[in-house]
Amino acid sequence: MAEIKPIKFSDEALSLCHKIMKRYPEGKQKSAILPVLHLAQAEFGGWLSAPVMDYVSSLLSIQPVEVYEVASFYSMYNLKPVGKCVIEVCRTGPCWLMGAEDLVKFIEKKLNIKEGQTTADGMFTLKTVECLASCGTAPMMQIGETYHENLTFEKCSDILDNYKAKGENVSHWRKERITNHSDIKQ
Ligand code: FES
Repeated sequence: MAEIKPIKFSDEALSLCHKIMKRYPEGKQKSAILPVLHLAQAEFGGWLSAPVMDYVSSLLSIQPVEVYEVASFYSMYNLKPVGKCVIEVCRTGPCWLMGAEDLVKFIEKKLNIKEGQTTADGMFTLKTVECLASCGTAPMMQIGETYHENLTFEKCSDILDNYKAKGENVSHWRKERITNHSDIKQ
């Protein structure tokens, strides 16, 4: 029988976690939940399983349900395994008016998946999200940390081909981003 590994941050991640928690007053560690969830997502393969969320709740000394509530509310947290590139197409008003719906259909056809699914080769996951604050350059999508704007089918197709050719994992938030605060850089 395969050994089940206990969920535990690496020493580096645990140290970062404690530095993040120290930003908040004693007894208010719950306030660290968003960056700690990003850290957990980066640490545990790009998504948050129930055992990972339970682990976060134990670190923050809060109830597991409090973590589930937050993780399921924000679209940047993945509650199931994702591909190397998570495509997030904005579907809110301005993007919708500029053709986001057709863009999603185009991507679904190109990648042979439906929204919420991951390609068989594990390269792409397609999600739709609410406004990403780039309404003036609609329609747009976010992949990893990069915005791709003023999209046409052709432009979108080239962008996806490029990611596929590189084959890099760009779905996860980088730890450097999480730690880009003067109080935890020391
Ligand atoms: S509506 Fe799409 S970025 Fe705002």
